[in-house]
Amino acid sequence: MTQGKVDALLGIVFGDEGKGKVVDYFTPRYDVVARFAGGPNAGHTIIFEGKKFVLRSIPSGIFDEGKINIIGNGCVIAPDLFMAEAKELESAGYQLTERLHISRRAHLILPTHRVLDRAYEAAKGKNKVGTTGKGIGPTYSDKAARIGLRVGDILNNFEAKYQALKARHEQILRDLNFTDYDLTADEEQWLAGIDYMRKFHLTDTEFEINRALAEGKRVLAEGAQGSLLDIDHGTYPFVSSSSTTSGGVCTGLGVAPNTIGHIFGIFKAYSTRVGSGPFPVELFDETGNTIRHIGNEYGAVTGRDRRCGWLDLVALKYAIMINGVTDLVMMKGDVLDAFETIKVCTAYTKDGETVTEMPYDTEGWQPVYETLPGWNTPLTEVRSEAQFPQAFADYIAYIERATGTPIKIVSVGPDREATIIR
Ligand code: GDP
Ligand code: IMO
Ligand code: MG
Repeated sequence: MTQGKVDALLGIVFGDEGKGKVVDYFTPRYDVVARFAGGPNAGHTIIFEGKKFVLRSIPSGIFDEGKINIIGNGCVIAPDLFMAEAKELESAGYQLTERLHISRRAHLILPTHRVLDRAYEAAKGKNKVGTTGKGIGPTYSDKAARIGLRVGDILNNFEAKYQALKARHEQILRDLNFTDYDLTADEEQWLAGIDYMRKFHLTDTEFEINRALAEGKRVLAEGAQGSLLDIDHGTYPFVSSSSTTSGGVCTGLGVAPNTIGHIFGIFKAYSTRVGSGPFPVELFDETGNTIRHIGNEYGAVTGRDRRCGWLDLVALKYAIMINGVTDLVMMKGDVLDAFETIKVCTAYTKDGETVTEMPYDTEGWQPVYETLPGWNTPLTEVRSEAQFPQAFADYIAYIERATGTPIKIVSVGPDREATIIR
């Protein structure tokens, strides 16, 4: 039997590209959908049949009854938030316990990790990362420091291990003089979440995925965050703490590089970023506000305004290289419907120097733009490539030429239906 493949769907910019929508759309083609990185810092929106869900830790393949969904070893999980998310799906009629499996190697986010996240941010003053406050950085730090708690620990002498790590965190908080927290309510919910998790398959998902591949099954790895938030390849230190790029698929699921098939790189027809850090294409004018307003660019997790700008080809080409993107997926073309002209950033300039490759430090660079004609036609009802206005088809062709990578899927609205395969 031919070995199955792992395809990956990765956000290749600053996150919120529309990964949830596309994973949900793709799920019928796969047997297993697996998250390999991040945790409840993610917010993946899925809209179909008049219903809307925002998933944080649970993979976006969960709505398809016959499919297995996996939270992989590269993820971090907050039991209380997981419980709330899972119960919401259960009350909407989705039975999760059989179709959702969690790696015993995934790390647990403790209530004190969230307090530490706030304490570290407060200590940074004006250099704040602008984290989601979900305890992501402190949890991955403990993982790297080899003191973290894993899902598998729930099954074995858990209470003692929990108290020991909590005490360690409380000592750090005392050292930082950070007293602005009250664990009582948080901890109660969290411990209830630990109990709730016991009813799920807490398994060695690495074996499960590899067995599925050996049986010729197809696996879709669902990215979280985006390539420019990757701990190694992002705009460090303004990044998240996991490997969000294609290498993270292998380490975050326990699959070998030679099992990887297609790498779908998803981006929006323009740029956004939420949180702090350099963002050369950021628009501070009416155009930026218009994109935010029409694109509904407010964080799915924190409700924060997303910073908006034109498409950044310097960033896009870099992410395509780092990930080995084979197919591009372009989202939210409809948001640019009303513009007479559209700009794309083709280079950065600073102090008389111009670069077309992503620099080590993106702080202080100005964008160099090329101006293209807009299509000035509503795209939301478009359902086939033949219906594309010429200027929209030209925009797609321009990006394909500039990046040397085909755009295989185009999305023109938030609903599952508003998706065009080319
Ligand atoms: P994710 O984190 O990558 O899954 O993306 P988010 O869910 O955080 O943000 C994407 C937002 O764009 C959500 O509100 C989606 O409903 C919405 N969306 C997805 N695709 C499209 C599209 O093609 N057009 C428009 N207008 N909205 C879209
Ligand atoms: P999805 O999967 C957009 C950003 C935060 C912050 C930085 C670090 O929905 O695309 P963290 O809490 O991870 O330590 O925050 O990363 N960030 C995201 N931005 N989409 C996300 O996820 C993000 N997850 C984290 O805003 O700048
Ligand atoms: Mg999101």
